[in-house]
Amino acid sequence: MERRKSPVLTAIHEDGVIERPPGLPSTTMAKRKANGLNTAEATTEGSSPATKDSDELITSLNALSASAFQEKYIKPSHLAPPSPQLSITFKSSASLTKGELNQCFDLISLTSRSHYEPSSFGWHSRRKLREMREEEMRYLLVRSTTLADRDGDSAVEGEVKGFLSFMLTHDSSPAVPVVYVYEIHLLPELRQCGLGGHLMQVAEDVARATGVEKVMLTCFVANETVRRWYEGRGYGVDVVSPEDRMTRRKVVKADYVIMSKAVK
Ligand SMILES: CC(C)(COP(=O)(O)OP(=O)(O)OC[C@H]1O[C@@H](n2cnc3c(N)ncnc32)[C@H](O)[C@@H]1OP(=O)(O)O)[C@@H](O)C(=O)NCCC(=O)NCCS
Repeated sequence: MERRKSPVLTAIHEDGVIERPPGLPSTTMAKRKANGLNTAEATTEGSSPATKDSDELITSLNALSASAFQEKYIKPSHLAPPSPQLSITFKSSASLTKGELNQCFDLISLTSRSHYEPSSFGWHSRRKLREMREEEMRYLLVRSTTLADRDGDSAVEGEVKGFLSFMLTHDSSPAVPVVYVYEIHLLPELRQCGLGGHLMQVAEDVARATGVEKVMLTCFVANETVRRWYEGRGYGVDVVSPEDRMTRRKVVKADYVIMSKAVK
């Protein structure tokens, strides 16, 4: 599911001016504000903004084109499909076709809309599409192949049946460079045969190879099975995960959990 920005990503300058989080271009921050996502709602208490070095690391990784990123960090085994009827491709948001973007969106809607709608996130199609198109977003697409594909004719592309999207960014407290997995969704017919685990493994391999500290993600509390699946893969509750809130009348339970796994 989508990312909810953690409070530590807002750094207050010595002169009191609110600064963009390290590693994120100001254009991205402006977009986040426009999207209604949290850029300045929290204090910096207990936070430690990322260093110049880690800022430079994230900026330089995000500056790589999809093909340069793939050449450096995506191994051929990462793109080896589990069956000849499927293909795995690596793309940046800019290189997604409109059809691919819409098919990814439809998958999120199919698998997770029922979790979004009653949650504090709500279901906002346009906001979700905007996030999916953020320029630093990278994609692993799982598609069905057609006979023509298998004969080497790449002009015929099959439907997207699953995908994982991630971004190199800063998060947690203290803020560190991370791979943030924004989405992972497979059609039901592709589940339970190791494909989801493979896509997470690619994200973790990318995290190790690029030298970031953690892989992070957000999961609805209501999505118990998947939360347990993440736990089985070594993910635990991150320090920035929200806690239940006390109001005058009741306890408001957090409806999502931010999870992470250290890779260093
Ligand atoms: C979460 C999700 C991506 C997991 O993908 P998946 O491909 O089913 O995951 P895997 O097959 O790797 O693992 C699932 C189970 O299959 C089994 N499995 C793994 N490899 C297997 C194999 N080669 N053969 C048979 N079974 C296998 C394992 O028992 C594993 O269970 P575990 O929890 O004990 O590890 C998928 O369930 C999904 O798309 N869910 C809906 C979308 C969603 O909720 N996304 C998360 C948003 S936060």
